[in-house]
Amino acid sequence: MLTLMLIAGGLSLYNAHKLNEAAENLEGRYSTLYKLFTSPSSDLDSEAGFGKEMVEQAVTIVGEQVKYNYTFLLVIVGAALLFGGMIAVLFPWKITRPVERLVKATQTVKKGDYSYRITGLEGTGEISTLAGSFNDMLSNIEDTHNSNLELLEQTKRFNETLREKIDEATLAIREQQNELIRAERLAIIGEFATRIAHEIKNPLSGITVALEIMRGKAGSEEQEHSITEVLKEVRRLDGILRDLLQLSVPKKMDFREIDPNEVVERSVILVRPRAEKKGVSLNVRHGASGPCRLDYEKCQQVLINLLINAIDSTEPGKGTVSVETETVDGALRITVQDDGSGIPQSEIEKIFEPFYSSKKQGTGLGLPISKKIIESHSGEITVSSEEGKGSQFTVIIPYTRRDEELTAKETGSA
Ligand SMILES: Nc1ncnc2c1ncn2[C@@H]1O[C@H](COP(=O)(O)OP(=O)(O)OP(=O)(O)O)[C@@H](O)[C@H]1O
Ligand SMILES: [Mg+2]
Repeated sequence: MLTLMLIAGGLSLYNAHKLNEAAENLEGRYSTLYKLFTSPSSDLDSEAGFGKEMVEQAVTIVGEQVKYNYTFLLVIVGAALLFGGMIAVLFPWKITRPVERLVKATQTVKKGDYSYRITGLEGTGEISTLAGSFNDMLSNIEDTHNSNLELLEQTKRFNETLREKIDEATLAIREQQNELIRAERLAIIGEFATRIAHEIKNPLSGITVALEIMRGKAGSEEQEHSITEVLKEVRRLDGILRDLLQLSVPKKMDFREIDPNEVVERSVILVRPRAEKKGVSLNVRHGASGPCRLDYEKCQQVLINLLINAIDSTEPGKGTVSVETETVDGALRITVQDDGSGIPQSEIEKIFEPFYSSKKQGTGLGLPISKKIIESHSGEITVSSEEGKGSQFTVIIPYTRRDEELTAKETGSA
């Protein structure tokens, strides 16, 4: 633009100079003509010829000048039109393109894409500076946004951990509550059992002795059979009393280093007649190695109860009961598995409660007593069962227990 203006200025000056030159030329000629006309010795014919020539020259010069000026004007107008056209095309493209990019950038950022950057506007102009500042601002926004996301993620993780901890604590509290309820119930049963035990146990012993004498003197087989049946019931009552007393006032534990496979073997021998009578096959697998500190009789009591429960749950002539010992992670694991009726999900919580039984003749004391015995070994007894498919009871007893722990348990249960 500046160059074009300089060219136009130069041409104007040159044009003015040319006009000036022509004017001066005409002025010179006019003064010569004037002198000739005013001189007394002038020859009018030659003067007139000279004057005509001069006028013709002046007309030519002015005509040339006018032509020249006209061409000059055309060039200037043409250049102005060309320049104007170029500006009309280039100016909007130069301005709107960056603005469009800025608009696109703001719209993309509005949608949440903070990683977007304006490109292709690098340079030194105001638009480039604006684009640069916009990109810097986006970088700041993106950093803040990422920090916020990280913070949000951390808060979420914290909340999840907190929820897990609360759930764990709630579960632990619920278990403790259940344990307390169980302990309280056992204490009440214990008090009740000890009172009635003294009231009933002695007469019951007297009745047993009397019935045995009567059976010896029975006059007929029928009488003998009847007395035997009554004796069975009296012994069953005696057994219930014994179990009740054991649950509430357990005897001192008698821990000894025992081969767990031996306890299992002995228990299986005792229940095998019951299994055979029902047509249930009984499998044993001894995988545990080394002796464990156990109360032989009490562990046998637990195993007999688990095995009888398993046999009872199976269909006559069809069922299979398996018992297995293993050493897992420094602990003795005994598993009693059956393919019997299974336990309904709604009932599974109740089976370790005293007096819960689904059997006609069951007292519902077998599992609560078993649980108490295993806990006295610092172990645990768990169940997994599916209705219609069978059940699995697992006993876990650590091989090495701290002596104080054992002493406390022994004293506590004494
Ligand atoms: N293997 C099993 N399969 C199905 N149900 C079982 C099994 N073991 C236990 N149960 C259920 O748990 C109840 C409680 O068992 P628990 O041994 O405490 O008492 P019981 O066997 O009924 O009577 P008790 O053992 O005092 O003679 C059973 O009556 C039975 O309903
Ligand atoms: Mg039982």
